[in-house]
Amino acid sequence: MNHDEHLLEPALKYVMLELTSRCNLRCVYCAVSQPDFHGLDITLGFDRLRAELGSEGGIEIQMNGHGETTIVRNWDVLARELMDDGHRLSLTSNLAIPLRDEELSVIRRMSRVTVSLDTCDPELLARLRRGSRLEKIEANLKRIRAGGSGPYVAINCTFTDKVMEGLPALVDWAAAHDLQCVALTNLVEYPQVDPEMIVRHPAEVDPVRALALVREARERATRQGLDFHAMDGLQELLVEASARWPAA
Ligand SMILES: C[S@@+](CC[C@H](N)C(=O)[O-])C[C@H]1O[C@@H](n2cnc3c(N)ncnc32)[C@H](O)[C@@H]1O
Ligand code: SF4
Repeated sequence: MNHDEHLLEPALKYVMLELTSRCNLRCVYCAVSQPDFHGLDITLGFDRLRAELGSEGGIEIQMNGHGETTIVRNWDVLARELMDDGHRLSLTSNLAIPLRDEELSVIRRMSRVTVSLDTCDPELLARLRRGSRLEKIEANLKRIRAGGSGPYVAINCTFTDKVMEGLPALVDWAAAHDLQCVALTNLVEYPQVDPEMIVRHPAEVDPVRALALVREARERATRQGLDFHAMDGLQELLVEASARWPAA
């Protein structure tokens, strides 16, 4: 192979690594909670996976998918080895289970951790993210942030009609816990699974109010030095829905 051909070889830069689609929680809005969903673990062995990714480093590996990475046996051993190989790792987790010391030390070496937390109201959180307890997430975050160093920590809020009023308070909560970012995900609606906790996209319920709350939350985040993102076109969607509101 000549030099030019080598330059044309595609280089792997980014990998989204789903070790499992199983989960310890059953959040009301998640595909995992649908009655016909069956979670599966990755079938590729960890040694083979590590070999496939190579030991020259340079790959951005995001441990995320539909399930919960931290329930997979030895997930932290694999994560540490991949970082030892020079790759950059990030994790999205529900952080619902108290972290073992080994998991904590691996997470503290990561570039970013995203914790899914829609509200800082403990009762509402427990009803939305069934199985999740605010005090356990808080305890894990305190250990991750201890000493000030460690990964960039973001909150992922799945933005629904049930949590929109609490969004500014969630930003204050993130700042008080020394986190770096609040991000909103744009709800993809699945059939409702809990008649006691129906969740809807804010654009269908009250886009004008939702937009005002997003703007207020963004301002509060900026004032307190936090990053703030509304992902996947959420803000644009609220702007469009507001222009048509109230619906005929
Ligand atoms: C599918 S979870 C997987 C990682 C991990 N189990 C967690 O909850 O952080 C990744 C993110 O997607 C969000 N999510 C789940 N269902 C969603 C939906 N229907 N629409 C938009 N975001 C959703 C979750 O709240 C979470 O922040
Ligand atoms: S913790 Fe994550 S994967 Fe599990 S049900 Fe909730 S959103 Fe879905």
